[in-house]
Amino acid sequence: MEVNLWLVLNTGNTIIFGGDGYIGWPLALHLGANGSDRIVVVDNLCTRKLVRSVKSDTLVPIKSMKERLAAYEKETGKKNITFVEADARDPRAVDRIIEKYKPESIVHLAQQRSAPFSMVDQQHVLYTELNNIATNINVLFSMVRHAPDAHLLKMGSMGEYGTPGIEIAEGDLELERKGKKASVMFPRMGQSWYHLSKIFDTYNVALANKIYSISATDVMQGVVYGTRVDEITNEALATRFDFDSIWGTVINKYVVQAVLLNKLLIYGKGKQTRGFLSLYDSVNCLTLLLNNPPEKGNYRVVNQIDEIYDTLQLAEKVQKIGREFGIDAGFEYVENPRVEREEHIYEVEHKILPSLGFRREKSMDDVIREIFEAVISNKKRASSMKKLVYPTVYWRTATQLNVKGFDLPRGIMDYRRSR
Ligand SMILES: NC(=O)c1ccc[n+]([C@@H]2O[C@H](COP(=O)([O-])OP(=O)(O)OC[C@H]3O[C@@H](n4cnc5c(N)ncnc54)[C@H](O)[C@@H]3O)[C@@H](O)[C@H]2O)c1
Repeated sequence: MEVNLWLVLNTGNTIIFGGDGYIGWPLALHLGANGSDRIVVVDNLCTRKLVRSVKSDTLVPIKSMKERLAAYEKETGKKNITFVEADARDPRAVDRIIEKYKPESIVHLAQQRSAPFSMVDQQHVLYTELNNIATNINVLFSMVRHAPDAHLLKMGSMGEYGTPGIEIAEGDLELERKGKKASVMFPRMGQSWYHLSKIFDTYNVALANKIYSISATDVMQGVVYGTRVDEITNEALATRFDFDSIWGTVINKYVVQAVLLNKLLIYGKGKQTRGFLSLYDSVNCLTLLLNNPPEKGNYRVVNQIDEIYDTLQLAEKVQKIGREFGIDAGFEYVENPRVEREEHIYEVEHKILPSLGFRREKSMDDVIREIFEAVISNKKRASSMKKLVYPTVYWRTATQLNVKGFDLPRGIMDYRRSR
């Protein structure tokens, strides 16, 4: 009998910190609809506010959590997703939630996840690093106190590694120096303040494993693209889709540029090479890892990339598929706002997911077609935000204390104590 890898084992309670987000909401739907006992979504809804703070918004409209849950219950007849609005920077709130639900699994996605947003100015650097490091420390400590046998699935990023010029190992790097051998964590050379916050997280999770013997998976995903997973069966269940130059990821942005501008904006020469995976595969990977935790008390690093391309190759792909929709977009080469190597090798070891039976759900071309469909049907809404596709945040100018026009939402620097 063939085993369906994506069906969820009976897992007790699963808490998803960051479950209102682009990846977190589809994950909650997927786990909830496919057999999890209870999913507890915890979120302070800050991405909704932060995206609006740069005058942008999700291209695909999204509902409030209350409306989403009502739609989910109507669609599936299940009432196994609970929403708790709380700021994961608040140690007492995180403690109460983990103590109350005593989860078997904790997925930690609750972070400021935009590299350009972290590079706006000093305020944005501080917000990103304080938010991301605090949420992670709070989850780790409450887990040790109240759910020491749980499995923590922490979302890292392939961007933590940067572009080291050698194959990126999945786990440790074997070294030899002056005749002696050692095994060390693979070096991390992230190239934005956001990526630096993720690197701190990795070291903090690894240390918590060493000292307190927690079980943890640190998953380094590549760049995620797409609008859908199978459980998004109607508009009320949609997940956010960001497309502006600050919040969007490259494939998602290219499709919007093709539809709105009839051209694709290539940063530099377009030779920057990265790993990519669809939203389907992001959610499937997390589900597979939840179903297959590491041995008790172990820490593992998992790399996930489905395909490797440079940004020009991606543009060519989007251009070709655009023609199927009657859009013949040209290329515009613009100054690369980032400070990064523009020509480099990019090789990644990724053995763990294939060894667990991971397979891709859809081809990149099919997912790009789905993005075109979603963008075209929301074209009117997008048109009013057309100019947001051009880069506005340049890595070298982040030394400003505060850039007017990109003010952080009021009160966001301090967490609000949840009752
Ligand atoms: N999208 C990608 O391409 C990608 C790739 C690799 C890794 N990741 C990582 O995956 C995770 C999820 O990314 P996403 O794209 O879904 O981002 P997202 O911003 O859409 O989701 C993150 C969620 O966390 C919430 N959050 C942030 N800080 C919080 C806090 N202090 N308290 C409570 N909730 C908080 C936000 O409101 C949001 O709903 C992030 O950690 C990100 O770094 C994303």
